[in-house]
Amino acid sequence: MSQPEVRPCGDDLVLSLRNITKTYNTGELAVPVLKGISFDIYRGQFVGILGTSGSGKSTMLNILGMLDVPTGGDYTLEGIQVGSLADRDQATIRNQKIGFVFQSFNLFNYLTIEQNIEVPMIYNRVPRRKRRERALELAKIVGLGHRLGHRPNQLSGGECQRVAVARSLSNEPAFLLADEPTGNLDEKTGNEIMKLFHTLNRERRMTIVMVTHNPMFEPHYDKVIRLRDGRLEAGGLGQ
Ligand SMILES: Nc1ncnc2c1ncn2[C@@H]1O[C@H](COP(=O)(O)OP(=O)(O)OP(=O)(O)O)[C@@H](O)[C@H]1O
Ligand SMILES: [Mg+2]
Repeated sequence: MSQPEVRPCGDDLVLSLRNITKTYNTGELAVPVLKGISFDIYRGQFVGILGTSGSGKSTMLNILGMLDVPTGGDYTLEGIQVGSLADRDQATIRNQKIGFVFQSFNLFNYLTIEQNIEVPMIYNRVPRRKRRERALELAKIVGLGHRLGHRPNQLSGGECQRVAVARSLSNEPAFLLADEPTGNLDEKTGNEIMKLFHTLNRERRMTIVMVTHNPMFEPHYDKVIRLRDGRLEAGGLGQ
């Protein structure tokens, strides 16, 4: 799969981490998990986070997604110092700027596909008509324009993940975060979901940060961040 190199320039800096550390305190024991992580991600990059189990991938993704706070270091997202924001502002930025795709889809079974896609837009106070238009547009992009009125339990796993991808795009985020998005899918369906991410990245210039154990996906990435015991592995992504 040949890919054009994404050439970063200053204005296109989406996020940067500087010397990020994370230590969990469990009783008397301090567990250092991230030990000084620094990297930049630019608009349009498809970044893979790789590393053995327990190396800190999900911890780092949770910090990038503002679902967890680092113990030390600086996180800047589109020029905003995340650490200096009040909790409420963090929640707003998280909803507006970050799209999440999880291994387990995390859809609401009592809502239709259209309503599931609309949820982040409701939090973002998007008017109803605009929400509907956008939900339809996104459902079409992921190939589910004809299933808007169905509920998640009427869909296959791969289709559910497509809905989750559509939902993640609803507020036109600065980047998508995906933690093992194909982990619950069979190989063929997982490859189809990966193809969808690839298309979003190449055709819509969506910035994507993905954790996956699947080495077959490596050719899709512009950059690879390899974590080893809480540090960037030599040969992994620097700046
Ligand atoms: N809340 C917590 N309290 C204490 N230790 C934690 C906590 N969360 C994670 N850890 C530890 O941090 C380390 C990194 O965990 P993390 O979930 O980030 O790994 P991972 O690279 O995502 O692994 P996997 O590939 O298995 O998902 C592990 O040793 C884990 O036990
Ligand atoms: Mg993990």
